[in-house]
Amino acid sequence: MAYERLTYLGHSAFLIATSAGDILIDPFLSGNPRSSISLEELHPAFILVTHGHVDHLGDTVAIAQRSGAMVVAPSELATYIAGKGVSNVYPMHIGGNHTFPFGELFLTQALHGSSVREDGHIIYTGNPCGFIIKSTERTIYHAGDTGVFLDMQLISRLHPLDVALLPIGGNFTMGIDDAVEAVKMLAPQTVIPMHYGTFPTIAADPQVFKQKVESSTSARCIVLEPGQSF
Ligand code: NI
Ligand code: MN
Repeated sequence: MAYERLTYLGHSAFLIATSAGDILIDPFLSGNPRSSISLEELHPAFILVTHGHVDHLGDTVAIAQRSGAMVVAPSELATYIAGKGVSNVYPMHIGGNHTFPFGELFLTQALHGSSVREDGHIIYTGNPCGFIIKSTERTIYHAGDTGVFLDMQLISRLHPLDVALLPIGGNFTMGIDDAVEAVKMLAPQTVIPMHYGTFPTIAADPQVFKQKVESSTSARCIVLEPGQSF
């Protein structure tokens, strides 16, 4: 299975074009001030959602209902999404893996929360996750929202990474310096920063991250603007 193109859609949203259809991850688009794409342009076969926060669950329900895409999420969040009228939902959980038409998917831990706010109330949606997406020739890690954790060493041992997508914005996730530590443990060939600059609380300079990564690890760092591909 070939992974042809990785496109950054802003915040933590990415689109991976594969020969088995497009994989859309954490599609926070209509509410995202830095998003460049309209929902109608997206025709994913799969939507992967790391956790229930609005900046990740985003437009999942609307896109899934229109496209018929299969939504993959941690079990409690998958149940919540199914309850919103999405029929094609596939629940998984941390430590589990499953083979899809695009390749093998593994769920990793993420040190964070997961909930949806409805009518002023919090609905908890289980544990948040990260995703390892593996084809025969490429392995991509989307860390979700997380602080740095030492088990990232185990991730790189089990899954040699071509590309790591890591949050750098701080406040709710790792900031730049912790994300550099994550790169040292994950040892990806390429790292792409995410989850910064969308709101004032997560302001971070991706060029500072790039400079620190490339001066202290062997990874190269590619900074994508929303709409740009790798
Ligand atoms: Ni979050
Ligand atoms: Mn977030």
